[in-house]
Amino acid sequence: MAAPLSAALTRNRYFDALSAEPGLYWLGQNTNHIPAHPAVRAAMIQAIEEGAFNAYAPPLGFESLRAAIVADLGTPGAEALVTEGGVNALAMICRARCRPGTTFVTTDPTWKWPCLFAEQAGATVIEIPIYDPACQYRLTPEALRAHVDERTAIIYLVDPNNPLGIRYTRDEIESFAAIARDCGALLVHDCTYRDFADGHTPALQVAPDGTVVSLSFSKWLGLAGLRIGALVASPTLFEEIASRTTSVLGASVIAQRAAETGLAVKPDWMEQVRRLDRANKAMIAEAAGRIEGLSLPVYPSHGNFLTVETAGAGLRPEALVECYRRRGIMIRQGTYHTARFGDRFIKVSTSVPSAWVETFCDLLPAMAEEARTLNDLPPQF
Ligand SMILES: Cc1ncc(COP(=O)(O)O)c(C=O)c1O
Repeated sequence: MAAPLSAALTRNRYFDALSAEPGLYWLGQNTNHIPAHPAVRAAMIQAIEEGAFNAYAPPLGFESLRAAIVADLGTPGAEALVTEGGVNALAMICRARCRPGTTFVTTDPTWKWPCLFAEQAGATVIEIPIYDPACQYRLTPEALRAHVDERTAIIYLVDPNNPLGIRYTRDEIESFAAIARDCGALLVHDCTYRDFADGHTPALQVAPDGTVVSLSFSKWLGLAGLRIGALVASPTLFEEIASRTTSVLGASVIAQRAAETGLAVKPDWMEQVRRLDRANKAMIAEAAGRIEGLSLPVYPSHGNFLTVETAGAGLRPEALVECYRRRGIMIRQGTYHTARFGDRFIKVSTSVPSAWVETFCDLLPAMAEEARTLNDLPPQF
């Protein structure tokens, strides 16, 4: 008899099966599936044709890309470190600051992987609940102040929040940065979704010292599978964090060429992406509004996704996810983000071709009915 699969292999086979499904509609990971900007596509093809990938990139990223990232963020004087996805920027920061006896303070829901990195380094993770209309689904300075002290190594703020889609005001960011300064913590501002937000203030703009911004090219530019992101910080913090890197041989050359070209065409590209994204959100809102008990806690979201609350309709998120999976559509169950609130919602990506969202919406009434009949569900990740 074959031995049961380990948790890690079960998770891997889950994603492998999704990847192997021809024409899957990826509506679960906030990725961007709008056909690439022609200039970005051309930059990647040129890099391949030149064999540019035969050599390593500079360890901290091509200087021209580093400069373009800092200019795009609007933080002159700061330094950018190019990483293999935003996730590795966050891993590096956690490795630099977390250790036994420290705390890592974030919201619930949050993006879960940095919590894992903090724990791996020995820190205790503190999650402040924000899934609550009473606080408008956002962290308040009062709540943050009540959860930090001299042990706090990192305050990790996802803004716009994934999965809720709220974004913070300049005043709020200033308050969070002041609280971090007072307790001696590093404010890590995860700005992965900033390009989908109406009005966004990177913490580095209000507090150049004591804050780090993490960035991604996966969502706005659609480069998730190429693995490229960055962190941006003051020169002193940059040196501290760079000294902890494990990516000593740099990030993908092809990805860096694509990223730099993407920054050059960003206004043009994002106008197109955001137009589609807004229309997709409106379609989902309308379809959800036609089903008794479904609701949208934050609308419109400032990310390229919408959280749809299913609890009022008596629907189990996992059952809906499985029904859609059987139709070749991946959406996300809330428990991916939060054990405490995850049984209340699903999350649907919106930076995708409108035909995908139309199919999602057309199927919704039937999926809601079918989900009520499902009991035995395979594990989901
Ligand atoms: C909040 C947040 N930060 C970081 C990332 C990681 O992005 P990357 O693909 O650049 O590693 C994600 C991806 O889903 C995310 O949601």
